[in-house]
Amino acid sequence: MPLRCITKKFDVTTLDDDDLICYCIGVDKKTIVEAIREGASDLKAVKEQTGACTGSECAEKNPNGRCCSKEIRQLIALVEKGA
Ligand code: FES
Repeated sequence: MPLRCITKKFDVTTLDDDDLICYCIGVDKKTIVEAIREGASDLKAVKEQTGACTGSECAEKNPNGRCCSKEIRQLIALVEKGA
């Protein structure tokens, strides 16, 4: 596991565009931010548009040991604030 996954795991603002948000499906930050900017304004819409947060191996694959929904919601809030 790359060190940067461990050190940056709880703060989506410090992730690079190509860093993964959803480890189960392999969806990066840039893809999710683009989906939000194109109108995916809630978790359900981001799931439908990107496939993120539709996996079932979070405990094994995600360094956070859980689903990526928290990070997706953080990105939605950031983009809505204009970040
Ligand atoms: S990390 Fe996104 S569904 Fe598991």
